[in-house]
Amino acid sequence: MCVRFSALSIVFPAVECSDNLFAQRNGVIHSPDFPNSYPKSSDCLYRIELEEGFFITLQFEDSFDIEDHPEVTCPYDYIKITAGVKEFGPFCGERSPGRIETRSNIIHILFHSDNSGENRGWKLSYTAIGDPCPLLEPPPNGRIDPSQATYTFKDQVVITCNTGYNVLKDGVESESFQVECMKDGMWSNKVPVCQIADCKAPPRLEHGFATFSSPDNLTTFQSGIQYSCQQPFYQMMPNVSGTYTCNAKGFWQSPELGRRLPTCQPVCGKPRFSRSLLARISRGGHAQRGMSPWIAMLHRNGRPFCGGSLIGNRWIVTAAHCLHEELELEDPVPRSSSIISPSSFTIILGKHRTQRRDDTEQHMQAGAIFVHPSYKPATFEHDIALVALSEEARLNDYVMPICFPDSVLPKDTMVIVSGWGKQFLKRLPEALMEIEIPLTDHALCKEAYAKLQKVITDDMICAGEKQGGKDACSGDSGGPMVTLNNRTGEWQLIGTVSWGDGCGLNDRYGVYSNVLLALPWIKEVTGVDY
Ligand code: ARG
Repeated sequence: MCVRFSALSIVFPAVECSDNLFAQRNGVIHSPDFPNSYPKSSDCLYRIELEEGFFITLQFEDSFDIEDHPEVTCPYDYIKITAGVKEFGPFCGERSPGRIETRSNIIHILFHSDNSGENRGWKLSYTAIGDPCPLLEPPPNGRIDPSQATYTFKDQVVITCNTGYNVLKDGVESESFQVECMKDGMWSNKVPVCQIADCKAPPRLEHGFATFSSPDNLTTFQSGIQYSCQQPFYQMMPNVSGTYTCNAKGFWQSPELGRRLPTCQPVCGKPRFSRSLLARISRGGHAQRGMSPWIAMLHRNGRPFCGGSLIGNRWIVTAAHCLHEELELEDPVPRSSSIISPSSFTIILGKHRTQRRDDTEQHMQAGAIFVHPSYKPATFEHDIALVALSEEARLNDYVMPICFPDSVLPKDTMVIVSGWGKQFLKRLPEALMEIEIPLTDHALCKEAYAKLQKVITDDMICAGEKQGGKDACSGDSGGPMVTLNNRTGEWQLIGTVSWGDGCGLNDRYGVYSNVLLALPWIKEVTGVDY
């Protein structure tokens, strides 16, 4: 028997049809050669093997034809299905088994044919589905994708929040969250919460403040805030509205600056007490309180020794020669060690009277000294220096910085020079003095000083009247020479008192360091740019 069987299989080799594994959730299986007649003497095994939790349903097509016998059940050819412990079939004949719900995840289909008969065979399609999970409600302000009436085993859904809300799960915020329907018909996780984006307390703005648009100080999505600067001594830069809105990502955002903050910059050159035309000084005289709020007194060993001007809220521009141990022109080239120590002098702002206390004064310490890199002590070229204050000046009606110059001024432009320097009687004045004088033609000034073998370089500006009289003098050095910019209405710093031959002599002029020329250096060192 064994021998005959093997001999037969050599003659009629059975088709290879037992290596069929189906691992997909859907598929189509049919007898070999379907719809042509299936081969003889074959044992075909088809396996559908899916993960536990799936239930496989078979659907046989109506076209079904397996060799039959009128009395005996499927003695020759048949199809038999095992589903775990359950068995379906054997099936044969021309009636399709139709639909079989196996409730199993592993199915073996055995198809046997003997050595005779001509039949077309069978074809089925199968699907696998798991148990449904409970209805899933989207969280408030969120949604579930994809949206379906029911979800079954292996279905995954993504929970996303509406714009301005974030998924919050176990204290962690994220863009979205995924849950999966598991084999036991339960969801892998609870539906997370959609939490509104929160911009939190707005970052603080130096010399400014934020006000909330909502009465209850909301910082959440779509809330608004308004930044303002401490008026009238600080102004917003750049000149923007200062309105910020909390965006969907939880950041304060402005239409002009995005996530960047504006800055509050000191207002310069606009004194509260301004000079009226009537009060203009003609002969020179005492200044009015608060009309030169940028002036600084440099004080050392109990007396004023130089002037300076406030720029920004923590820098003083003065003359380089003011910061040397010896102030004499004849000094040899000083080494850096001859620069006075920042702790050896005091800067007094809000000052008016020379020797007596003012209610408005602010005493400051110098943090550092920067002398112009091209300063030449022997010739007073680039006689300009910067002093960093160790703390910010408190800006008020008596303390306000001066603006930078913006263009070269023509000769005869009237400028104001102020200081606590010596008067002709070689006495210190009671209080701050000021003079109004015209700028001198550069060539004329050069010529006047050529007689004294003194060189007027391009970094120097001269001012004064030909007949003399009004001039700065010893002790005024470093102090401001200013003019009113009619276009902007702001006072700007043109020069700093530097040197001269005597004081107020005729055909001599006061010499000042040109601030416009030093401006790139000043801006670079101080970072001030208003
Ligand atoms: N070098 C002098 C000082 O130490 C200032 C001189 C100004 N003189 C003049 N005639 N403008 O104060």
